[in-house]
Amino acid sequence: MRCLIELSGECLDLATAEALSVCSIADKAVRSESDGRALLVTGNIDPKILVSRLGLAWSVSQHLFSCKPGEIDSRLDEIALPGNTFRVRTSRLGSRHSPNDGVGLAKHAGEILSARYRVDLENPDSELRILMANEIHAGILTGEIDRSSFEARKPENRPFNHPISLHPKLARALVNLTRAGDGQILLDPFCGTGGVLLEAGLIGCQTLGGDIDERMVEGAAKNLRHFSIRPIEIRKADISEWSENQGRVDAIATDPPYGRSATTAKEPIGALYARAFSACHDALREGGRLAIALPAEKHVGLAKDFRLEGMYPVRVHRSLTRYFCVFSK
Ligand SMILES: C[S@@+](CC[C@H](N)C(=O)[O-])C[C@H]1O[C@@H](n2cnc3c(N)ncnc32)[C@H](O)[C@@H]1O
Repeated sequence: MRCLIELSGECLDLATAEALSVCSIADKAVRSESDGRALLVTGNIDPKILVSRLGLAWSVSQHLFSCKPGEIDSRLDEIALPGNTFRVRTSRLGSRHSPNDGVGLAKHAGEILSARYRVDLENPDSELRILMANEIHAGILTGEIDRSSFEARKPENRPFNHPISLHPKLARALVNLTRAGDGQILLDPFCGTGGVLLEAGLIGCQTLGGDIDERMVEGAAKNLRHFSIRPIEIRKADISEWSENQGRVDAIATDPPYGRSATTAKEPIGALYARAFSACHDALREGGRLAIALPAEKHVGLAKDFRLEGMYPVRVHRSLTRYFCVFSK
């Protein structure tokens, strides 16, 4: 199966890594080609899983062809669409194409295909999705990522709110970077208001969380209940207590305090992170992954026993960049 993924424009490297991580759960040998926000992946992949899991993407299609703009007519003549009715939607990815190019291409493709299929703009049997990046990429739409559901889970829309929480799209990406599969145990030892656990629970992980602050533990439990997620456990715990889990955790996704609004209980940040890496290493099973949002690149060196698999800077605002890092044990 070859899938065409329309990535979100924000943090493109992270969006690409997230998509490839989800593909790798089913097929470790997945192959990929990038054309800016258009990502082509080939392997044993279920496109519906990509639609339900990705945070930093807009749509997923079954790839039909990629070509230069001048070649589109002949390529459209060759394709077969499922069913009798269709519609065409175009997405301009980047500034290379003007809005008129998108409208014009949709109209042109519609005219060519209407020789063989009937247009139905409301409820078609298939939607041809054309992504306009450096090249033109076309596929049959499997589904669009439900971006409104991420907005609906924003911190201010949850029963317990605190400004420390990541946007749900970024929390979902952090979870996906761990490659945790359905039913696997995912731990967030700095769970705060539960934003990461919420995203992990929604994709079918069994969740385990802790925080040193009792108010956060109660608030996170309340937030998870609100979205019908039942964790294995959320408890008041210092990070080092998770060492006791001795290889029983499949994945860890976490957003530790970074020394600003989120408290470190007066502990120097370097000392806290060194303890965190050590406890996470103890808790994770062999081959498991830790995805962690760090406030500076320099902290990566504290993860002595782990292998760094990738690092993706995410600009939160002008003076704050977080580095989403993935480590494997
Ligand atoms: C940046 S916040 C986590 C935000 C979280 N991702 C959310 O969605 O709300 C970091 C959390 O780490 C907790 N924390 C600080 N020191 C800790 C420690 N030693 N052990 C466990 N948790 C700690 C803080 O109470 C805070 O809630």
